[in-house]
Amino acid sequence: MVRLGVNIDHVATVRQARLSTEPDPVHASVLAELGGADQITIHLREDRRHINDRDLRILRETIKTRLNLEMACTDEMVQIALEQKPDMVTLVPEKREELTTEGGLDVKGNFQPVKDAVSTLRSEGIFVSLFVDADNAQIEATADSGANAVEIHTGRYADTKGAVQREELSRIMFAGEKSRELGLILNSGHGLNYLNISEIVAIPGMNEVNIGHSIISRAVFVGLERAVREMKELIHRALMDARV
Ligand code: PXP
Repeated sequence: MVRLGVNIDHVATVRQARLSTEPDPVHASVLAELGGADQITIHLREDRRHINDRDLRILRETIKTRLNLEMACTDEMVQIALEQKPDMVTLVPEKREELTTEGGLDVKGNFQPVKDAVSTLRSEGIFVSLFVDADNAQIEATADSGANAVEIHTGRYADTKGAVQREELSRIMFAGEKSRELGLILNSGHGLNYLNISEIVAIPGMNEVNIGHSIISRAVFVGLERAVREMKELIHRALMDARV
């Protein structure tokens, strides 16, 4: 089975639009888990524009599956992770002005700080994944950093069509093969939705996908529990089809 991590940041984005107390991402996590989410993913950004420290603290206590904390590779965030002990940390690049995480983390270009953060987090028993582009040099650097897993950035695959998309899919497949050869657990995410998920979960060795925007968007109309369940069904079906 390919595990489904549901990113609930957007629920907090709606709350912050009114600087209010609802909708509460804590409630969202309960419904996502009832719908079959294998993991709840949140991004604590430096500017706390959606998820905040209170959310992290409460979610850490209430989530029954696994908590995946996406965060920048900074001393402040590493300290917070050491205090809150999420099951998993995914290190992501972060720019204040971006709407969402744009490219993958430049592990090669920031090797020593990333390696140090990985080692500090792992020494406290936190599973560490690095979010990178489908690029061999970045995947090699991820393995060299001592991370447990890689999350391959699927944003370009999601944003393209036709021949360009096919090319992007094969880049992700090669990157997946390379990751597994180097002993990394293979995850993926960004821009995945109900129409493009099947080919990604059918990639050999795919362990987990992290999905936010498309599930929360659908949830506005059908409810979160159903939106998560429908994504789980698609994942299941894609795996069955890949086997025959
Ligand atoms: N994975 C990572 C590392 C991300 O930064 C994000 C966006 O927060 C996602 C997955 C989910 O992306 P989307 O909201 O496009 O599904």
